[in-house]
Amino acid sequence: MFKTIIEPFRIKSVEPLHMTTTAERRQKIEEAHHNVFLLRSDDVLIDLLTDSGTGAMSTEQWAAIMRGDESYAGSPSFYRFEKAVIDLMGFPCVIPTHQGRAAERILFAVMCRQGDVVLNNTHFDTTRANVEFTGATAIDLPCPESRDLASMYPFKGNMDLAGLRQAFATYGRERIPLVMMTLTNNSGGGQPASLHNIREVAQICREQRTPFYIDACRIAENAYFIKQREAEHKSKSVKTIVAEICSLADGCTMSAKKDGLANIGGFLATRDKEVARQEKDLLILTEGFPTYGGLAGRDLDAIAQGLKEVVEEDYLHYRIVSTGYLGEHLTANGVPILQPPGGHAIYLDAARFAPHLGPLDLPGIALTVALYVTGGLRAVEIGTAMFGHRDPKTGDEHPGPKELVRLAIPRRVYTQSHIDYVIEVVTEVHRRRAELRPYRFVEQAPFLRHFTGRYRPQ
Ligand code: F0G
Repeated sequence: MFKTIIEPFRIKSVEPLHMTTTAERRQKIEEAHHNVFLLRSDDVLIDLLTDSGTGAMSTEQWAAIMRGDESYAGSPSFYRFEKAVIDLMGFPCVIPTHQGRAAERILFAVMCRQGDVVLNNTHFDTTRANVEFTGATAIDLPCPESRDLASMYPFKGNMDLAGLRQAFATYGRERIPLVMMTLTNNSGGGQPASLHNIREVAQICREQRTPFYIDACRIAENAYFIKQREAEHKSKSVKTIVAEICSLADGCTMSAKKDGLANIGGFLATRDKEVARQEKDLLILTEGFPTYGGLAGRDLDAIAQGLKEVVEEDYLHYRIVSTGYLGEHLTANGVPILQPPGGHAIYLDAARFAPHLGPLDLPGIALTVALYVTGGLRAVEIGTAMFGHRDPKTGDEHPGPKELVRLAIPRRVYTQSHIDYVIEVVTEVHRRRAELRPYRFVEQAPFLRHFTGRYRPQ
């Protein structure tokens, strides 16, 4: 009835933001070699680097922290955590890990052999790295509709079903130890997959007798999109939709730093007791005993509570509408973004934002620097710096597939007026886009170069 979106919470504890001047920010970014990862976060006004582990916890989560029991083995915190995962997802074997990538490392170490092929709608970078670390190959099968960044197709996170069938025909199911779907598809723009598509993927996997896993980092956001956009599910609760997705899968990996609404933690879950046994053996080697998996008891309790809150529809409505509001206002102001707005982030289309810069001019880096200097915003480049590479023999630079800059929204942290400020800053940088200068690497690591790379403007 009313069009103002309000945060479905009030604020009990506040954290002051540190204001800086444009001149100070110019100096700070120079000192950080034009790489926003090298800034001190105190010098950032609105930090949209990631939605991972940056959320605000609720009063009930802080209360749960006090209930945390730090026993090494058999802690009640573990049993509350295990029950919360089973209540939401239904996987009987639940293994805590310190974050999502630890769950990935253990899963692929158990499932993959040299020469295997793992298929995913789009692997997140740590997922890909952990598949490749086992000697297997990670192949992305995003749906064809996802290629047009400007189209409003509602389920750009879908998997390419024809591509999946073709992959089974090409590699044979003996070489495919598992198929995964990343919900929502982070590297593909925070876009959801439809329940119809997830069901089809599960069906193909069943026919091929191949395990089907979910990267469930943002499964609640994905389920909310299904409720909004897939007519036949509109009267179901989000919790029911999450359960339905999980009922189609053999297991999942999870970073509780996203839809666990916690600052740290993750888990691995499966229906297969034998796989779980092998995973627990590996867990003990590097993470810890299976009833804590590298987490404090209090973290397990915070996640247990977070998993209940994340499927509350008032929360999800605010979350998705608020991200959408940012996307719609930027679009109305002429700023090119990956459409439609994602769940956890808006992705600026840096190639169209700065058409005078080619991929090797690192337009996304130019844009992240300008957003910081202009308004103290921190965003992350997802373009040639992150996904391109330098040929070690010739020294030639090669572009990445897309030039995006992600504005990731931490959960329950920023208010509507912060978002309005972000809109103003991005619009101002867009108005002055002709001033964006080309950037070059001055220093780069041989892999994951975007974290520590140093740049200079041309
Ligand atoms: N899978 C997806 C889809 C992710 O987005 C992430 C993390 C992970 C796995 C790994 O989880 O960080 O707990 O080890 N994404 C963060 C981001 C880092 O900024 O998008 P983790």
